[in-house]
Amino acid sequence: MERMGKADTHVHTDYSGFNSLGLMSFPESVIDPAKQVDDARRRGLDVLCITDHNEVAGGILAQKYAKKFDDIDVVVGDEVMTDQGEVIGLWLTEKLKKWLSPEEAVDIIHEQGGLAIAPHPFSVHVDGMQEKIFDLPIEGFEVINGGHPDPYSNYLAQCIMDRHPGKWAATSGSDAHSLFTAGYNWTEFEGRTEDDLRKAILRKKTVPVGTPAPVLGQVQWSMEVVWGGQKLMYKALRGKLPEVENNSLIHKINSISDIKKATGIVAGFAYEFPLTNMLATLLSVSFLKRRAKKAMRNIDERIANIDRIIAEKEAAAGDGSE
Ligand SMILES: [Fe+2]
Repeated sequence: MERMGKADTHVHTDYSGFNSLGLMSFPESVIDPAKQVDDARRRGLDVLCITDHNEVAGGILAQKYAKKFDDIDVVVGDEVMTDQGEVIGLWLTEKLKKWLSPEEAVDIIHEQGGLAIAPHPFSVHVDGMQEKIFDLPIEGFEVINGGHPDPYSNYLAQCIMDRHPGKWAATSGSDAHSLFTAGYNWTEFEGRTEDDLRKAILRKKTVPVGTPAPVLGQVQWSMEVVWGGQKLMYKALRGKLPEVENNSLIHKINSISDIKKATGIVAGFAYEFPLTNMLATLLSVSFLKRRAKKAMRNIDERIANIDRIIAEKEAAAGDGSE
């Protein structure tokens, strides 16, 4: 039997900008688009979807670069922040504005000829759209998100998908911001090309495979962005970091004061001290576990409530197969 195609439907590059944790600001990713394509080919992916935060420029570069090879297709996407959580548009031509309503964002994705996927819809620690997804004409949602090793977020998504088969496409995306967290999970589909993936999503025939990346991978990612950020700040201090169009990471580093750059470099060394990053990791793992455990207490009621919401929507749509 012919093997299924493999796609990663949720991958970031260094066009994903900055995030902050308390007072600390750090790059989301320091991996450039070509490197993500090279890594995806090495891992045997047929389709790579680049879904930077609120940006398509990295995806467009990756797609251009991938044209050199005949074994991989790149889909240009955008993981955009709405005022009620994040939504991914795949097969886009332009980035979306932040803070639209989810309805507006999904409409724009469809107007561009794209498909809408809800990433980590029931996340306990990042901005998933939660029950809002049931109000939207999205094509699918993630049942495996590689950045969610907690026992709740992916589990609830899988439960809902299992209870309503064929209603949405089930996807599995690494959400990799680093090469260390890629390759543990992916979406399978009949065929090999981006068109085949698109058809599989529209027919709700995608197959989610794999598990979230191990916590060690997340630690390696954090070290990678701290070290990468330090290198960029050092270059900027020496006046040797040229601006790159649409790259908000480079732009932000160039625009902060020299004293902030120097402080960032020193703070980076403090983070790289092994005890500090192990402690930070242990704290975040226990924080996630506590959140997941608390959410687990009410999971049966939540599932019953979601079933009720879906039944009401189907009744309102009239034919029961909205
Ligand atoms: Fe993401």
